[in-house]
Amino acid sequence: DWTAGNVVAEQVERVRQQVGDARVICGLSGGVDSAVAAALVQRAVGDQLTCVFVDHGLLRAGEAEQVETDFVAATGVQLKVVDAREQFLVALAGVTDPETKRKIIGREFIRTFEAAAREVVAEGGDHGEEVRFLVQGTLYPDVVESGGGEGAANIKSHHNVGGLPDDLQFELVEPLRTLFKDEVRAVGLELGLPDAIVWRQPFPGPGLGIRIIGEVTAERLEVLRAADAIAREELTRAGLDRQIWQCPVVLLADVRSVGVQGDGRTYGHPVVLRPVSSEDAMTADWSRVPYEVLATISTRITNEVPEVNRVALDVTSKPPGTIEWE
Ligand code: XMP
Repeated sequence: DWTAGNVVAEQVERVRQQVGDARVICGLSGGVDSAVAAALVQRAVGDQLTCVFVDHGLLRAGEAEQVETDFVAATGVQLKVVDAREQFLVALAGVTDPETKRKIIGREFIRTFEAAAREVVAEGGDHGEEVRFLVQGTLYPDVVESGGGEGAANIKSHHNVGGLPDDLQFELVEPLRTLFKDEVRAVGLELGLPDAIVWRQPFPGPGLGIRIIGEVTAERLEVLRAADAIAREELTRAGLDRQIWQCPVVLLADVRSVGVQGDGRTYGHPVVLRPVSSEDAMTADWSRVPYEVLATISTRITNEVPEVNRVALDVTSKPPGTIEWE
């Protein structure tokens, strides 16, 4: 019988057998998969596990806190937080090309994670000098996709933890390898993770960095975070979270248009709402969000975020449009 409880019991046993008393590291991204994988391994080996959270400053409002506070409270996991916000902004300064942004974010991420992993290994003392383990939230569909050799075209470079140097090699622990997404969520709930983490919609590794069209700056991130938080809040309030696959909010930072707000003329920026429905993100359709909900989101964003004076809706399916704008 498939129950989340059985999966937990089985995987806890497996992980214990695999890692023995060695040290284990897990990178947390804020996403469901890494959180559930980490919680499972924590359940299995406790403080032999150290989680590393690289705060690149490209997450949405409240998400860093969700990892640093809520996840730790729910699991009791040992967490090492690296504040790399400034480092990422410096690396991204002046960059507007989407692929270049992705490569820079991926590169900085690996560098930072690698440095943190070295520290964790060094602090490890007598535990597992020879064998070290890295937890990955690989799901069954990822296994099939990468092993199947079917070769889904690499349309955009995706960033995941990979590409670590030879002298910092890990054996992988992948406790979610047999699971589908909905099963991962059930396991997360079984492990007592907060709803906000378990039900988080897909969010790209490069984060808000690829939802600002134009250069990424601290000010622009603030604007996008504020607009995104309002859109998320209203979609949740309308009960649409489970119907909508995800809803990127995109800031057209280099576009300006004339508006009138409060007492006068403004020359602000548009944001684009990109709500989509999908089964697997390979194809998608734009979500028919009720007009009233769109109206509320638009009114609130333009009232509450002074830099934004227009809200547009993306009505493109995938293909031809990808879900993200970059
Ligand atoms: P696109 O834009 O290609 O996105 O239609 C398909 C799905 O993948 C997500 N996405 C990413 N996820 N790292 C990730 O982990 C990435 O670099 C990345 N880029 C896009 C996107 O949010 C959508 O769910």
